[in-house]
Amino acid sequence: MLIKVLTLSLLMVSVTYAASGNVFNCGAGTDCTVVCPANFPLPQGCQWSGTYPSCVVTECSCSSSNLNDSYCQSCKGSGYYANTAMNSCVQVQASCNNRNVNNVKWNTSDCQACSGNNKQKAKSDGSACINSSKILISSFFGLLLILFI
Ligand SMILES: *[C@@H]1O[C@H](CO)[C@@H](O)[C@H](O)[C@H]1NC(C)=O
Ligand SMILES: *[C@@H]1O[C@H](CO)[C@@H](O)[C@H](O)[C@H]1NC(C)=O
Ligand SMILES: *[C@@H]1O[C@H](CO)[C@@H](O)[C@H](O)[C@H]1NC(C)=O
Repeated sequence: MLIKVLTLSLLMVSVTYAASGNVFNCGAGTDCTVVCPANFPLPQGCQWSGTYPSCVVTECSCSSSNLNDSYCQSCKGSGYYANTAMNSCVQVQASCNNRNVNNVKWNTSDCQACSGNNKQKAKSDGSACINSSKILISSFFGLLLILFI
């Protein structure tokens, strides 16, 4: 009997854990359903719940497309952001889709994680990601320039 109760409560804990997101700070206010959507809209079909500051995505299986940063941070954790295709959450230094490169420059691992394309590289000044074929093309033109000057 005790074992049954224990198993059942463990099961409930894991179901609850798997279903809803982590606490996400939406800003001041009390009711997360009111406070969060204005600044942190979620993909269609997803909802915030809870009481500030403990706002969570109610049910993380709510969407598998149009994922965005607030969804990823609640459902996966604070280091997660939506990839460029917005169909999964990846662990990178800052947003894939909304990066302010003055704050966090691109590096090659972020470019590849965001794009899911292991041929991408960060530009040397960290201002953007480029395909390595473009790097080849630009170094080819660079070479031409050197040859003709
Ligand atoms: C989250 O995704 C929804 C649906 O694609 C979009 O309307 C919203 O602007 C996104 N929010 C953020 C903070 O990226
Ligand atoms: C990109 O930056 C992260 C965080 O600083 C670091 O862990 C990673 O090794 C860097 N990747 C490259 C390719 O420089
Ligand atoms: C890189 O190449 C892929 C596939 O050819 C393309 O879809 C993507 O837009 C390119 N990315 C950049 C940053 O040029």
